[in-house]
Amino acid sequence: METNSVHQIAKSNFTLFVYGASGSLAKLKLFPALYELASQKRMPKDYQIIGYARTTMKVEEFKLIFEESVRAAHENIDKDIMKKLLRRVHYFSGKYDSIEDHKSFLNFVRKIEKEKKRVRIAYLSVPPSTFTAIFKSLGKVNFNTRMSRLRLIIEKPFGYDLQSAKKLKRVLYKSFQKEQIYLLDHYLGKEAVSNLLSLRYANSILSALLSKKYVSNIQISALESKDIEGRANYFDNVGILRDMIQSHLLQILAYFTMFAPEEKSSEAIHRGKAKVLKSIRIQAKNVVRGQYKSYKNEKGVSKDSTTETYAALKLTLNHKLWKGVPIYIRSGKALKAKWTAIVIEFKHGLLQSKQKNIEPNRLLIQLQPFEKIEFHLLTKLGGKTFDFHPIKAAKLIYCSGDCLSEHGRLFLEVVDGRQDLFLNFEEIFAAWRVIDPLQNYCNKMGEISCSPILYKKASLGPKAADLLIEKDGFKWFNAFPS
Ligand code: BG6
Repeated sequence: METNSVHQIAKSNFTLFVYGASGSLAKLKLFPALYELASQKRMPKDYQIIGYARTTMKVEEFKLIFEESVRAAHENIDKDIMKKLLRRVHYFSGKYDSIEDHKSFLNFVRKIEKEKKRVRIAYLSVPPSTFTAIFKSLGKVNFNTRMSRLRLIIEKPFGYDLQSAKKLKRVLYKSFQKEQIYLLDHYLGKEAVSNLLSLRYANSILSALLSKKYVSNIQISALESKDIEGRANYFDNVGILRDMIQSHLLQILAYFTMFAPEEKSSEAIHRGKAKVLKSIRIQAKNVVRGQYKSYKNEKGVSKDSTTETYAALKLTLNHKLWKGVPIYIRSGKALKAKWTAIVIEFKHGLLQSKQKNIEPNRLLIQLQPFEKIEFHLLTKLGGKTFDFHPIKAAKLIYCSGDCLSEHGRLFLEVVDGRQDLFLNFEEIFAAWRVIDPLQNYCNKMGEISCSPILYKKASLGPKAADLLIEKDGFKWFNAFPS
């Protein structure tokens, strides 16, 4: 591994408020990421972490939750680092909608902060139903520092549909300004995703080839082997279209297909992505929904649930570079393997058109289970024969010395005040405008058109998803490690 890159270290001291101290996002992602930052010596001189929740809890209990979450995520824990980290962990119990409690909280915060020069960040690991109360309280009490205004981190899903996303924006903007709001989609913290733009525009061979002239189809797959893992409360109300496609996979698509931004600013990147998302054309008949067979037996799932745990869809872009190129997206739970990748298939050349069953050239950008880039080329078999066989040229693009988990990386961006790797509401609305009509169509047409097709656990999803792509003369490309 090359190690000549600069190690990103938090640029300023910070105080982090974690709303919903035992919320699943904090436990699964944020706490392990904070340990990772501490263990890689990326923390500033003075940083403090405070859990804020309604439950009355001793600080020791919160420290235990924190430590256990870190231990569940990391195999080797350095005792000294953990001890030092836990010294900076605090707990405050208060109501989300109480201004009085937030005033006392501010006093509490001031007491534990050593340096005045710092940023304050609030991370929400609570159900969206409590957002409004928290925004109001945080907005009414002055948590800004001399150095910066309070920053807020909110994770996807941003609303449940266009209307609720608009409401979220309205409520947020009542108390905060754009530069204070960090809308987090953890996929944008993946090295391979943020690399998508650079890859295309830093390599002229790729920028020359990646357009409707040479590309026959694009496939974006996010297959997961795990089921809903006890998250019925969340998942059964949402489904895979909202959970994975509206957010992560449309973001990947936007990054991959947008024009290079005219200037190097987060605004230009947001504009470019929003433009792609607004150009999406999709017909409700080109959506396949599936549900794994034992889904209705999951604790908390209703016996007549029609929530899709799998979806495959075909869309096109009304976009200068990509008009007419079919784009297939699929994602599902409880499938054969965990595998996330973008596969770009190229049009057949002269030889490929003459010789049947010859593989197309492909570019594969894999995000899970590890990040790599792969070219599929054809070379002649030895000797006199004119038969060809595919070869793969592959390279890991995991990271080049400055390796961090998605949440660690994104958290550092917030501390440093950079918004490039976060979303803005224009993109979020554009993505809901793609998904909403598909859901509305189902509400109108009811069961016949939309009830999900049952599929076996550990399979590749419903057959209908294969037909969706095969009727256009293509096939899903699968390359998960066995
Ligand atoms: C989350 C979804 O946003 O992303 C989960 O809510 C999903 O349902 C997860 O499992 C997948 O993330 P990753 O990074 O493991 O591909």
